[in-house]
This record gives sequence, C-alpha cells and structure tokens, in this order.
Amino acid sequence: MKKVLVFASGNGSNFQAIVEYFKNKDAQKGGDKRVVFELLVDKENCYACTRAENLGIKYHYVPFNETENFLKNADYSLYVLAGYMRILPAAVLNYGTFINIHPSLLPKYKGKNAIEQAYNEREKECGVSVHYVNEEVDSGEIIEQQAIEILPDISLEELEKMVHGVEHKIYPRVIEKVLFGG
Ligand code: GRF
Repeated sequence: MKKVLVFASGNGSNFQAIVEYFKNKDAQKGGDKRVVFELLVDKENCYACTRAENLGIKYHYVPFNETENFLKNADYSLYVLAGYMRILPAAVLNYGTFINIHPSLLPKYKGKNAIEQAYNEREKECGVSVHYVNEEVDSGEIIEQQAIEILPDISLEELEKMVHGVEHKIYPRVIEKVLFGG
C-alpha cells in the first residue's frame, strides 16, 4: 500500500480526479494498486477541503512556513502538487519525490495564467505537462506531456475546460506510473 499526500491551495478538481481514479482501480477485482490519499492545504477552508470531506479523505491545514515541520514526521511514498500555489524550498523537497501538473507545454508559459497566455498569443496548440518539482517554478524534469490543439474559433473558457479535462485524465495515470512503474 502506498501513501500519497496531495498539496492544493484552491479548487482541487485534480485532487478529486486523482482520488476517484484510484478508488475505481481499487474496486476492480484483484486490484493491487491500493493508494491511501491525504490532502495538505495552505489555505484554510479552500474548496479542496470540501472535496476531501465529501470523498472521505483526511486533510491537513498547514501554513506554508510550517510545511517542513509537518513533513519531518511523515511517511508518504509520493508528494503530488495539484494547484498548490507556492514554491517549495529545497529543505522541503528533500523529504521525498514531488511532482506537479502545469497547464502548458513546458518549457513554454511557466507560472500563472498559462492557458490564457497561449490563447492570447494565438498559439496553434497548448497542453498539459507533468513534471518533477525543483526549486524553480515549473522547471523540473518533464515526466509526460500532452498537446491540445487550439481550434481557431474556440473561446478561452472552452479551451480552459478542455485543458482541465485532459489534466484530470493524465495526472492519475502518471501518478500510477510513478508509484508502480510501467
Ligand atoms: C490546474 O490547472 C493545474 O495545472 C495548475 O493549477 C490548476 C489547479 O486546478 N497547477 P485544480 O485546483 O486542480 O482545480
């Protein structure tokens, strides 16, 4: 059994997609990919906490400057950043393997508003990247990427919806790969 800590600061739709993916795996007969999730938030009462309650997942409110202290006594197999709006220092990253998801084809459009930037630049494609985390924003080694065509008449809202849909599919699969290989 693996124990995974998901970090979020806000909405938590990726967190929910990840938990539901593994719940379904678990329900499959003979499933040997049991993963127990917990959530860490740096924003008290953010919507990810409500999702955790609904999903029956334990969550921890940990102010950013207490993160290292929290991890000192932890025993997680993997740390998954999903909309966690902070840059973690080396002292925290040293506690294990951290991965992140970003809504662009990295190294393009690091940081905030990546989808909007690609859209406004009239790019022909944007995408989703899952990468290991280092001390710089959206800069660690890329694990997997998926490109998404930006159709000429699509609105920004439609594109954002499409990108998030791809995130919800790709992130659980990459987590499974990182945890169990294959
Ligand atoms: C996602 O677009 C993710 O790629 C980025 O932050 C957003 C989080 O969305 N890092 P949610 O909180 O999972 O709904």
